[in-house]
Amino acid sequence: MVKAYNFDLSGILSIDDLRSLAEKRVPRVVFDYLDGGAEDEITLRENCRAFQDVTFRPRHAVAFGACDMSTSVLDMAISMPILLAPVGYSRLMHPGGEIAAAAAAGEVGTAYILSTISGHAMEKVRAASAGPVFYQLYLLGGRGAAEAAIERAKDAGFSALVVTIDTAVAGLRERDFRNGMKQLLGENSFAKIPFLPQILSRPGWLLRFLRDGGLPKLPNIVVPGEGIMPLVDINAALARAAVTWNDLCWIRELWRGPLVVKGVLTGEDAKRAVDEGAAAVVVSNHGGRQLDSSPATLRVLPEIVNAVEGRAEVLMDGGVRRGSDVVKAICLGARAVLVGRAYAYGLAAGGREGVTHSIAILRSGLERTLRLLGCSSIASLDLSYIRTNFHHANLLPRLTGTRHSSMG
Ligand code: GLV
Repeated sequence: MVKAYNFDLSGILSIDDLRSLAEKRVPRVVFDYLDGGAEDEITLRENCRAFQDVTFRPRHAVAFGACDMSTSVLDMAISMPILLAPVGYSRLMHPGGEIAAAAAAGEVGTAYILSTISGHAMEKVRAASAGPVFYQLYLLGGRGAAEAAIERAKDAGFSALVVTIDTAVAGLRERDFRNGMKQLLGENSFAKIPFLPQILSRPGWLLRFLRDGGLPKLPNIVVPGEGIMPLVDINAALARAAVTWNDLCWIRELWRGPLVVKGVLTGEDAKRAVDEGAAAVVVSNHGGRQLDSSPATLRVLPEIVNAVEGRAEVLMDGGVRRGSDVVKAICLGARAVLVGRAYAYGLAAGGREGVTHSIAILRSGLERTLRLLGCSSIASLDLSYIRTNFHHANLLPRLTGTRHSSMG
């Protein structure tokens, strides 16, 4: 693996600090791909803002020794309720890419989810982590390619399959268009010229990129009769990635292990996913990258938890930047959260070390929040630790006792 550069951790206290560093380290087209959202980025901002509408009800003057942050997802033990979400094009952020992220997750005993749009072979990614690794499936390359990927994921020892259902087409991510993502990933060298200054202004990144062999292919998409798919821009990728409920049927037949449906925003879709065999759903608006003006995930989380009625686990992603955000999501009924940008900023800023640092920031924030709340374990978090002004507050009492029993 390409060695991470020296990474100065002094002064990097928050995910936002890592974001600023990432912005300085990678070309604008890479940073904006990671940082940006669809259209007016309303949902992107709302995902973060919704956390501000939840405040805490701490219990003071209580003392306890160790804080138990462990939990399980799909019966797999993890050291904290934070999983690393699938992030496309990770190898462009840093050559270590998906391997670095998986290794960093495994090191702290949590799970990593590998995106279909990945630059390292899934077998290597699986082997890099000591923890559980899930595979996120898009139908890029058609059913034949997906079937081959599912077989490979089974053979390589992936623990769950995550099917993303919110990509009928790609959301309009205006920053990607303006930065020339399509041209830079395309074949026509002349079309790239206007967009090159942003690349040349990040010589460190450029050197690592060239040493890594330039644009990676997509080694986890092998199209029957055509071979490994070359890197395509996100619009081309997602336009060919749409999944329907009918697809879930054959996917489940092939993949006999735990199935996770990601991209659920309504109680109806959550119920449908569970009826189709999902063992977990991810409440997700794709980090505000798909349908702008979708609600913040934290706000719809209670609706989904109620709809699922304990028949599947409910995970969520979107806007998590602090350990305290994780606590809020768990109080509102999530089993665990997925973080995407939060660790990808670390990856872009400093490779594996950067990911490790971002996980450490979240983990220490989580522990600090629990201690300040006077709550000794993740398992005992419940609604009694928060206040919200969410509109569907009338639904909240039903949450209590479905997953946590220690209200009061
Ligand atoms: C990939 O899934 C993306 O949203 O960019």
